[in-house]
Amino acid sequence: MRNLDAKDIGIVLKHSKAMIQGKHKGLFEGKILGSMFFEPSTRTRLSFESAMERLGGKVITAAEAGVTSSTKGETLSDSIKVISRYCDIIAMRHPYEGAARLAADAAKIPILNGGDGANQHPTQTLLDLFSIQETQKKIDGLSIAMVGDLKYGRTIHSLAQGLSLFKVRMFFVAPDILQMPKELLAELKAKGVRYSLHEKLEPIIPKVDILYDTRIQKERFPDPLEYEKVKNIYQIVPEMLARAKKNMRLMHPLPRVTEIHPSVDATPYAYYFQQAENGVYVRQALIALTLGLLPS
Ligand code: NCD
Repeated sequence: MRNLDAKDIGIVLKHSKAMIQGKHKGLFEGKILGSMFFEPSTRTRLSFESAMERLGGKVITAAEAGVTSSTKGETLSDSIKVISRYCDIIAMRHPYEGAARLAADAAKIPILNGGDGANQHPTQTLLDLFSIQETQKKIDGLSIAMVGDLKYGRTIHSLAQGLSLFKVRMFFVAPDILQMPKELLAELKAKGVRYSLHEKLEPIIPKVDILYDTRIQKERFPDPLEYEKVKNIYQIVPEMLARAKKNMRLMHPLPRVTEIHPSVDATPYAYYFQQAENGVYVRQALIALTLGLLPS
């Protein structure tokens, strides 16, 4: 996210809108996406693959532990050097922070980071920004709360950085042990971003235009007992939304566990399934831009 400015983001959002309108049929004909997911994924992987196929491209897959030569001891760098000769662009997810950067340095083709450990998830942020823009018709001037696992949540880290390029007010709602990383807060402060930290969720709900909820990232806790203490800390039910602003939209990168009760899905606030669909359009725009198929 640090490599993008507001103008770049504006270009991605503009092309994403054209994708949602069904433009650019056949744009990816003759192109191949390498889909390399070394960590579980449903939306990110399938929306990348769907994005490619729906515009006429093809997908090859090298994923899951045991499928690539990484289990034989091949380095990620070597794997990427080879796989990048078989395709035009790679979407990857990896458990190690910095893996996408390493891959991008090794490859001669574009690498799109679909999540590197607890670090970053920039394509998610672009689809989140697109979703915010779709629901509120603007980004500047909004109040946005991020809730849940702000420490390990890579979607949160990228989103806070992405939003820092706009004039927004941020509320960070988490138990103390899962609050935003200090370095990230320092970065926001240096940029003059208005933010505050909170432990209670309910008083924040009426104040915001976007409530961005996240899953407590069980797999990243070094101590399972610590996870047990916080796993059910926030559970949104419809009654909690009674004082929400009319335009408020509840977003979540998904998967959810217990943090949003399924009965919330039928309220006008729920946007997370459409948000997941938007991932296809935004990833189409990103693939097109990085392959130089649309003007940047
Ligand atoms: C997220 C991820 O993998 O970081 N999911 C996603 O990509 N939509 C969030 C999560 O796993 O909780």
